[in-house]
Amino acid sequence: MEAFAIQPREMTCHTILRAAHEAFLRDVDRLAAAVAAGKGRAAHVRAGWENFKDLFRAHHDLEDRVLWPRVERAVGGRRVELAVLAEVRAEHARLEPLIVRVDAVMEQDGGDLRPAVAELRAALEVYLRHEETGALPLAESVLADEEWRALAEEARRRCEARTPMFVPWVVDGIAPIERSRFLTALPAPLRDLNRVMWEPHYRKRRLWSV
Ligand SMILES: [Fe+2]
Repeated sequence: MEAFAIQPREMTCHTILRAAHEAFLRDVDRLAAAVAAGKGRAAHVRAGWENFKDLFRAHHDLEDRVLWPRVERAVGGRRVELAVLAEVRAEHARLEPLIVRVDAVMEQDGGDLRPAVAELRAALEVYLRHEETGALPLAESVLADEEWRALAEEARRRCEARTPMFVPWVVDGIAPIERSRFLTALPAPLRDLNRVMWEPHYRKRRLWSV
């Protein structure tokens, strides 16, 4: 959904949402790797975790408050479709306590982060795949172009401040072909900003380094 803040035309919302989903999983994998190496509480790992939480919550806030309500209205009273959306919302609600649990264990001196991170990883993957195979195709099928444009505008208002972080974060560590596909789909001025300012700034933060 941060995607809509980037621009809605050259790049489909699906593309951007899926890219964000992969980046969420990548971040939790990085956390798991740091934990396995005994570095789960290192400063840059914690910074990566804080960044993950911020983007994850913004992403789901947009979906829950902006995207799914529009899809719910568009499907009218159709029960099967409403059940798909209800399930995605319920799965999303189950993730927040798992995130809070990782936070809580991180604060405990010597607390074992492995089970909390593993549980979050498993639930996150189930949720994201479910969203990608059920709720997002449903949204694509019922929302008209005009609805997507309105969504994009609302997302832009809500997420503009995060775009300089979102773009370098989403392409961090992805395969060169995917990176190039994502970046070339951006409007040229944003691509230039990313190259000259956003990505250098992102790299300096050294998120997840141990
Ligand atoms: Fe999502």
